Amino acid sequence: MTGLKILGTGSYVPDFVVTNEDFAKLVDTSDEWITTRTGMKERHIAVHEPVWYMGAQAAKSALETAGITADQVDMVIVTSASADYDFPSVSNMVQNAVEANNAFGIDINVACSGIAYGLDMAWRYLMTGDVDTVLLVSAERLSQVTDYTDRATCVLFGDGAGASVVTRADNKAFASFLGSDSRGAQHMYCVPPQKPVPFETGSFENAMFETNENGFAYMNGREVYKFATRAMPMAVEKACKKLGITPPDLKWIIPHQANLRIIETAAKNLGLAMEKMIVNIEKYGNTSSASMAICLDELFRSGKLAAGDKLCVVGFGAGLSFGASILEW
Ligand code: ACO
Repeated sequence: MTGLKILGTGSYVPDFVVTNEDFAKLVDTSDEWITTRTGMKERHIAVHEPVWYMGAQAAKSALETAGITADQVDMVIVTSASADYDFPSVSNMVQNAVEANNAFGIDINVACSGIAYGLDMAWRYLMTGDVDTVLLVSAERLSQVTDYTDRATCVLFGDGAGASVVTRADNKAFASFLGSDSRGAQHMYCVPPQKPVPFETGSFENAMFETNENGFAYMNGREVYKFATRAMPMAVEKACKKLGITPPDLKWIIPHQANLRIIETAAKNLGLAMEKMIVNIEKYGNTSSASMAICLDELFRSGKLAAGDKLCVVGFGAGLSFGASILEW
């Protein structure tokens, strides 16, 4: 069996920290409500840093840890739901910033599920033999689409980036299970303000979602919560099944950091102890697809990973997308 080897990881979060107490001064909320309902204490907000910059900082750290130079990278994959520009792609901007001049770049936007899809894509390209080294980056700046007058969403999101350098590994397991339930797409979306063209007047026809003039993200928290507690365990179980293992065979789970209660419910439904779940939500909040990449960097640097450990990355998000990727260390 051919799997993946992660040669090095990196992450970057902006210096500027916003605490629960800061939000209590901004909207009608409290540290007690945010902590008990979400597990979050603080988050980092990119006041000055664009998405590509955070991604490039994480990428440089991952390359340094991996001990390879940027010109050895064949492919740059960036997962992001909050690209700075419509084009060029974030991957092209990260490629430019790190000078990975021999690579090509692809962006993936599956919202918070990002890295589960990114690992799947990296594995498939590596399996063809066309590429040998993939730089996988997840970078997000949801603060740019957050309505800071809406207490139900503004307390949740933070900014940041994580990255890893990925290669092929013989005799290592890999499996993934990806899915999307687009029947629930209306529960989480972000529509940029529409720009009129000079040829026709009248309202925008055939809009799937409501627009708002500021382009803020919309979320039906209760519906996304219900979906997440169903989709996460299901994705883990289906990916395990492909490998002929069961969830208790997994040593580590890196879940999307959206809500501590969602993570606890997923662990319970999978019959897993919370000690197996990597959690850093109290420090960073929900950084969308970057959340699992930052956790991976923290786990990598903790020294806790041992050869043969099976590690599962599992995410869910707008789409509604979900996915799990399992790799063997
Ligand atoms: N402070 C105080 N009260 C609040 C706040 C707040 N920040 N936010 C909401 N409330 C109130 C509500 O108004 C409501 O009051 P009411 O009962 O008087 O109407 C009450 O708290 C309960 O609201 P709920 O929405 O039922 O609270 P819930 O326990 O469901 O928690 C939360 C809300 C944290 C958003 C939860 O639903 C959740 O985590 N959902 C999943 C979000 C998620 O996973 N998103 C991931 C996708 S991100 C992506 O794809 C980019």
